[in-house]
Parts: sequence; structure tokens; C-alpha cells
Amino acid sequence: MWNTTTNTTNQPSQGCSKKTDMRLSSPNLSPNSIAGFHIEPTNICTLKCLGCARTRFIQQWPQHWKNHSINTQDLMRFLDIDLAGKKIKLCGNYGDPIYHPDLFDLVDQLKQRGCSVDIFTNGSHKTTEWWQQITTVLDSTDSVFFSVDGTPENFTNYRVNADWATIESAMKVCAKSSVRTVWKYIPFLYNQDQIDLARQLSQQLGLTEFQVDCSDRFDEQTEHLKPSAELVGSRYNKQQDWKQQQSSSDINPKCINQGEHFISAQGCYTPCCYLQDHRFYYKTQFGKNKTAYQIADTTLSEILSRPTVVEFYQNLSQQSGCQYNCPSKS
Ligand SMILES: C[S@@+](CC[C@H](N)C(=O)[O-])C[C@H]1O[C@@H](n2cnc3c(N)ncnc32)[C@H](O)[C@@H]1O
Ligand code: SF4
Ligand code: SF4
Repeated sequence: MWNTTTNTTNQPSQGCSKKTDMRLSSPNLSPNSIAGFHIEPTNICTLKCLGCARTRFIQQWPQHWKNHSINTQDLMRFLDIDLAGKKIKLCGNYGDPIYHPDLFDLVDQLKQRGCSVDIFTNGSHKTTEWWQQITTVLDSTDSVFFSVDGTPENFTNYRVNADWATIESAMKVCAKSSVRTVWKYIPFLYNQDQIDLARQLSQQLGLTEFQVDCSDRFDEQTEHLKPSAELVGSRYNKQQDWKQQQSSSDINPKCINQGEHFISAQGCYTPCCYLQDHRFYYKTQFGKNKTAYQIADTTLSEILSRPTVVEFYQNLSQQSGCQYNCPSKS
């Protein structure tokens, strides 16, 4: 979930680029124009990253936490369109894809339908054999993003409970296979001076790419981690302004190209991952009426043809969650 103001590849550079402001206000909802999906295979994780929605939820309401993993059969039936060439992002808001009880089967079925798959993971605590097996179904159209925010010596400042030994062996297995491998590095105050060191290590390990992914998610609990201004994500200032005014007239919808349709580990549809975050979800029709958006009971085409959903997409700029999460760049 959240921002991906990704900027660098293998070239040393310390800043974060700004994205183009498209200034269109609603996507074309035809299934043919869908670019892809964001799927949360599970809300299980072994880490306790300080700014993660999962960590925060469990801190605040431990008694309400329940583990969920997506039912692959329900998902494959729900996705009632031709998936060939579509991009499937396996990531999520509350968990890590590698802890789904049968990620191999999920990825295998998506690959059989012609998708390309991007897996976002912390990379910890899985065996070499597990990685060897998963890479047999991945090819050069797929990517594994390793979220490692720092060097092996300091990244657990943010990635609490992460384990470098298992990450390193996972990276090596993936680097040997045909899959594209990316080290994704969020700059924080403790690691902002080691970006080039980590980039060099990624090259030594044979990874395809190194990306700096500037975070815009800083609050009272993570303020101490905030890096220099040029390494803070581009939405940060806009979102601080929005918190003061609680309104805005202009948005830059990330979902404009229909690549954000989100399905949670609980099997619920939302237009994007941002709106599934508990801070926004229950203020939207998707969270208020969860049972109507269960993938077990309906299909994607049916949801996208509902007048209430069409109306939602036509009025994105009036939704407070959209104003906050997709602010215009100007
Ligand atoms: C909740 S994680 C799920 C995927 C996987 N567990 C991981 O960490 O990569 C989704 C995304 O949020 C990113 N993320 C975690 N903490 C963040 C923060 N404070 N600011 C911005 N992005 C963050 C992760 O790097 C990942 O790309
Ligand atoms: S690894 Fe991902 S899901 Fe797990 S706590 Fe960290 S950010 Fe959250
Ligand atoms: S927050 Fe709103 S505008 Fe942004 S991607 Fe989600 S649905 Fe689209």
C-alpha cells in the first residue's frame, strides 16, 4: 500500500522524482481497459515495522486482530476477465505475500492465466527450498521486490524482527533465476547515508535493480525516522495541509489507468489499497457494506457495473480518502 515514489535504478542519486500530474478525474471502467490488480495474499507477517498499518492495528486493537489468507479458488473465479498480459501486484496493507499458506499455487494459477506478477516482500524467515520452488513458476516478466530499508547492520531499526541471513539466501536464489529482482530501500534518518553502500551490495548479490522509495508516512511514532527533506515522499506536505483543512478541490487519481483494483486477504474488493486501510475503509461504501464486496459471492465485472460503484469512480474528487491519498501535485 501507500506511496511508491520510486526513483532510482542502478545510478547513484539521492533525491526523489515527482510524478506527472495527469489531471484526469475518473477512470474508464471497461474491463478491457483494466491494467492490473493489487492483491493482498495474506495479512500474516513475522515483522513489526514501525509505520506499518498491521503493526499499528495490533498495537491499538489486539483483541480485534484475526489472521486471514486469500482463498485462491474464490479469487480465480472472481477475476472473470481475460488476465493475459495484466500486471498483478502481490503486496497488501497488512501482511507479507510469502506467508500465504500456499503462495506457490496462487502464483502458479495467475501465471497459467498469462499474468505477470510482482511480489513485494520483506524476504525473511523462508527456506532456500521454498524460494527455489517459487522461482520455478516465475519468469522474466515477473519481479520480486525485497523491502530492505538499510544495510544488513542497520535495517532492523525499521524492519523489526527481519532476518538478514534468510533474506540474503532468498536474494541469491532469485538472482540466479530468470525473475527480475529489486532491492527496495526506504530512506530513513538512520540509513540515509548508506544508500550507495546498499546499492553496491545489491550489485554484488546479482540483483537486477536498486530502487529508493521515499516514504511520505511520518507521524508522531515515526517522526524520529524522518530523513532529509529531499528524501521525504512527494505526498507528505500535501497530506499535512489536508489534515489542517480536511478538504481539497483537486486530485491526481492513482487509479486512473485501472491498475489499482484491490482485493484484501479477507477477500474484499476496494478500488485501491489506500481505501482499504482501516483509517479510510469504514468511511467508504466498500467498508460500510463489506459483505456486498466479497469475492466469494460475486465477480469483478458485476461489481464494476453497479451504479453505486460507477458513481463512486465518477466522483473521486469528492471522497475525503481520495483527496488525502491522491492529492494533486500542484
Ligand atoms: C505493508 S507492506 C506489504 C508487503 C511486504 N510486507 C513489504 O513490506 O514489502 C506494503 C508496502 O509498504 C511499504 N512500507 C512499509 N513501511 C512503510 C513506510 N513507513 N513508508 C512507506 N512505505 C512503507 C513496504 O516497503 C511495502 O512496499
Ligand atoms: S514486512 Fe511489510 S507487512 Fe510486515 S510489518 Fe513490515 S511493512 Fe508490514
Ligand atoms: S484513493 Fe481514490 S483516487 Fe486514489 S487510487 Fe484510490 S480510489 Fe483512486
